Amino acid sequence: MKAENNCIVIFGASGDLTHRKLIPALYNLYKIGRLEENFSVLGVARTDMTDDIFRQKMRETLITHENAEGETLDNFCSHLYYQAVNTSDSSDYVKLLPRLDELHDKYQTCGNTLYYLSTPPSLYGVIPECLAAHGLNTEEFGWKRIIVEKPFGYDIKTAKALDVQIHRFFEEHQIYRIDHYLGKETVQNLLVLRFSNGLFEPLWNRNFIDYVEITGAEKIGVEQRGGYYDGSGAMRDMFQNHLLQVLAMVAMEPPAIINADSMRDETAKVLYCLHPLTDEDLKHNLVLGQYTASTVDDKPVKGYLEEAGVPSDSTTETYMALRCQIDNWRWAGVPFYVRTGKRLPTRVTEIVIHFKTTPHPVFSQNAPDNKLIIRIQPDEGISMFFGLKKPGAGFDAKEVSMDFRYSDISSSADLLTAYERLLLDAMKGDATLFARTDAVHACWKFVQPILDYKENQGRVYEYEAGTWGPVEADKLIAREGRVWRKPS
Ligand code: BG6
Repeated sequence: MKAENNCIVIFGASGDLTHRKLIPALYNLYKIGRLEENFSVLGVARTDMTDDIFRQKMRETLITHENAEGETLDNFCSHLYYQAVNTSDSSDYVKLLPRLDELHDKYQTCGNTLYYLSTPPSLYGVIPECLAAHGLNTEEFGWKRIIVEKPFGYDIKTAKALDVQIHRFFEEHQIYRIDHYLGKETVQNLLVLRFSNGLFEPLWNRNFIDYVEITGAEKIGVEQRGGYYDGSGAMRDMFQNHLLQVLAMVAMEPPAIINADSMRDETAKVLYCLHPLTDEDLKHNLVLGQYTASTVDDKPVKGYLEEAGVPSDSTTETYMALRCQIDNWRWAGVPFYVRTGKRLPTRVTEIVIHFKTTPHPVFSQNAPDNKLIIRIQPDEGISMFFGLKKPGAGFDAKEVSMDFRYSDISSSADLLTAYERLLLDAMKGDATLFARTDAVHACWKFVQPILDYKENQGRVYEYEAGTWGPVEADKLIAREGRVWRKPS
């Protein structure tokens, strides 16, 4: 389905996200015919720039990163416009009025406008108020939607305050809180895997599942984002949003129907069932780490404390591992081990469902466990591991696997990247894959005691860049006789 005619206003148009993700995503949607000719993009930022200079910059980005060329590139760029605005000064927004009128007229967009807040979070509350001061939030002529990037708040208090601020000027149906993990094809595939296969559905509960591992590993460090990252850490940067959303997809009940409300009701419910962790629980179930300098792939790699923008005495965690549980009928007693970190040996996001063993080991004491691995990235796919007889004498079992790779049923043209998918959905008014306010609050409610614990007494262990995190994380899972999977 194509997007409706609309004007996309990107606040923070001179920033990194606009260059790296948003404009490339819009370009690719245009290239594959998912964007009508009747769209326009109005870049907004403080820097003075003409339409032509903005077009030139975006063109260079697209040529470098998307191998864009020819008529498609020229046509796409002709839809780009730019307006300099002091985004924290309400009176300056008056400059947007004639620009928007002109674009709505030229592209017959009926007033439909999608605002994308790709700015520092300090402006997330300010921009809606400034837009409203000029009537740019009302839906009298066309729809008005606002996409808010993460982080949605810094803790539970600021997340709630931000919600109140935005809700003063935009209604919930107009607010799209983006979590790009929900736009990943394999995350969505989880729903199809779970809810359309009679094979898995009956097994997906505490009777048959022993434990679940969720890993979000990154090989890179903090790169040029030390300043931002140091105020965030792994908990706010990856766990509070991306990994908890993935956990919710693994654990949610089937929605009655596939629509935004039904889906989001179920994810919010499961997030509210996360067992609240006390300081005593956290002492045993949380491990935080920070990478130190090392040699990776024969190259020296800086430690976190030597990264640009990071104070030399920082205690920000670049790794975390947590054992948590869900208090409901489906999951009572099943541990979920979740870990994420930077400068780990490889980049991989995966979910491992470990099934219980047979009640009595008839053939071999060391029969392999049954597990289902859902690989979110890279090499998206699903592998089922089970035991079969080793050829030859005796009945020794050997682990074998059945593998499905996503690339076998798709061409790259069918696969939309997360930003392409989510931008398209927002333009169609489909909020299914955007976080609703109750789910965001549920995540913060669960995470807040962990943040407080870290602040007051959490120890941050060192781990060498290029390793799988502090040994304490191995001990955490070993306590129950388990080991983390080490994906390659
Ligand atoms: C972002 C985080 O939200 O997600 C980054 O701010 C992280 O620190 C990134 O690197 C990971 O996303 P992906 O899609 O590369 O797994």
